[in-house]
Amino acid sequence: MNESFTEKFRGRHALISGGLGFIGSNLARALTEAGARVTIVDCELDGSGANSANLAGLEGRIELIRADLRDTGRISPVLGDVNFVFHLAAQTGHMDSMRDPQRDLTNNALGTAALLDACRNSCPRAMWVFASTRQLYGPPRALPVAEEHPLQPPDVNAVGKLCAEELLGVYMRVYGLNAVSLRLTNTYGPGMRVRDARQMFLGLWIGNVLRSRPITVYGDGLQRRDLVFVDDVVEAFMVCADEKLRGRTFNVGSQETIDLRSLAELVRRLGASDSRVEFIDFPADRKAIDIGDYVGDYNSIRAATGWQARTPLERGLTTTIAYYRAQLAAYLEQS
Ligand SMILES: NC(=O)c1ccc[n+]([C@@H]2O[C@H](COP(=O)([O-])OP(=O)(O)OC[C@H]3O[C@@H](n4cnc5c(N)ncnc54)[C@H](O)[C@@H]3O)[C@@H](O)[C@H]2O)c1
Repeated sequence: MNESFTEKFRGRHALISGGLGFIGSNLARALTEAGARVTIVDCELDGSGANSANLAGLEGRIELIRADLRDTGRISPVLGDVNFVFHLAAQTGHMDSMRDPQRDLTNNALGTAALLDACRNSCPRAMWVFASTRQLYGPPRALPVAEEHPLQPPDVNAVGKLCAEELLGVYMRVYGLNAVSLRLTNTYGPGMRVRDARQMFLGLWIGNVLRSRPITVYGDGLQRRDLVFVDDVVEAFMVCADEKLRGRTFNVGSQETIDLRSLAELVRRLGASDSRVEFIDFPADRKAIDIGDYVGDYNSIRAATGWQARTPLERGLTTTIAYYRAQLAAYLEQS
């Protein structure tokens, strides 16, 4: 554990919304290792990455409140001495958000409003780090995409995230809240949902490779991505929990890029699998919200904090596949 993290977090109280999920649970582990007292609020949303297997080994070391963010009566009593709020709870499915926009917006935008208001009353000085998304940019006008790129949310989920970013802005200006927003690119690693592609296609690919099922790539597979390993994302959250960065918005992702065709081959090779890679036409509903190539510009966070993604893709995928080789059953049962 990075010594500066121990200094920063030891004995401090960190609230993680969405901490049963993929990224939140990895963050909970790292914060606990750094000596923080961690409280998780999570409602185990259907179709999300919530999974008690994600917190294996942390039982008894963290407090888990199984509640919806909007149930502030359940959450407010623990907020009094909270120093850090890591807000990751969200419905994350892009297609789900198009099928049921009200569910997505109610959950994500109103959920954020509820947590903000509860914290304004109970822990107004807490430092927030919010999990936003690169999806806000929509189809890039040019690559790489820096934070100044115009925002053109391509789907309802991104609209909800933009709304949450704007709510944070209002609470900063009006109530003096301290917050940083991190616009994450595709994140992968142990704890991700592998039962289906609701969280990300790569999870489904890994789940399929380990069961010798085909991997399906939409279109020609030449779309580029800059996937980032979860440990690097967790480090970005911990680095950015810093009042000196108040009001900043940063892209978070990796310098290493790959097209999906090559990624599918890599997953198949690392999984030592006889799975086939199949190319099919983009389903029309997915094509309508697809953003094409995405490569982020990560100079801003590096200049402000020194953070940069450090895990090479092949190493991160090897770790992830090894994890699911041992744990697959617990992740196929997920609701
Ligand atoms: N994984 C990625 O590639 C990625 C990319 C961009 C942004 N993000 C953002 O990062 C955050 C974490 O993503 P993840 O991949 O870990 O997702 P996840 O689905 O694994 O975790 C989200 C967690 O939030 C919980 N949750 C959802 N709504 C809630 C509510 N109203 N009240 C309480 N709990 C609630 C779910 O039960 C789940 O455990 C999300 O906000 C997501 O939008 C993730």
